[in-house]
Amino acid sequence: MTEKPAKTSVPIHELLARRWSGRAFDGDRPVSRADLMALLEAARWAPSCFGEEPWRYILWDRNRSEFSWQKAFDCLNPGNQVWAMNAPILLLALAGDTFRERGTANRWARYDTGAASENLCLQATALGLMAHQMGGFDADEVRESFSIPSDYEPMAMIALGHPGRVDGLDSALRERELAERKRRPLSEIFFEDSWATAMHR
Ligand SMILES: Cc1cc2nc3c(=O)[nH]c(=O)nc-3n(C[C@H](O)[C@H](O)[C@H](O)COP(=O)(O)O)c2cc1C
Repeated sequence: MTEKPAKTSVPIHELLARRWSGRAFDGDRPVSRADLMALLEAARWAPSCFGEEPWRYILWDRNRSEFSWQKAFDCLNPGNQVWAMNAPILLLALAGDTFRERGTANRWARYDTGAASENLCLQATALGLMAHQMGGFDADEVRESFSIPSDYEPMAMIALGHPGRVDGLDSALRERELAERKRRPLSEIFFEDSWATAMHR
């Protein structure tokens, strides 16, 4: 796998530093059921507001059902299809926007679903797999194709598989794959005492 560990200002856990959104998947190597179960279990243990666990996932395994994987793949934007075509697994993360027992709006559902997906992505890194989340898909098409109830919001598709060879990508994607990972400076995004007052060490 192309390793692109985050260049951090202070040391962080190596699992967090190593997770990244690569695009070069090994299309010939299936993901084992045991690994998939571990990913789902990791997502399942995410924290959630009132313990609602508002996330739901649909998984498509090309090596089990090429037909349904293809239906999910067809919902991706063309810019994602060019590389996600080699990912043997696709997932969809959905957020349930209503507390099931109270029947009131759950304004934390999407926050919680993101946390569950990050758990899944980190577990993928721990297992030597690669997960790449995608907002670039047609939510209406996915809703229609997979009979998704109206109170669940499709949040992100996730391409997953074993890492593959970077030279399998076209030149533009290869460049992106090898480019340095970047983040905003800490002072721009973390405040102390009040809004826009940069935190200092
Ligand atoms: C909700 C969400 C949507 C994203 N959508 C796309 C996408 O449609 N296509 C894509 O190539 N990457 C997508 N990404 C990946 C981001 O571009 C990537 O996480 C970001 O550039 C940081 O890179 P890193 O994950 O390697 O640290 C998405 C990530 C998230 C969390």
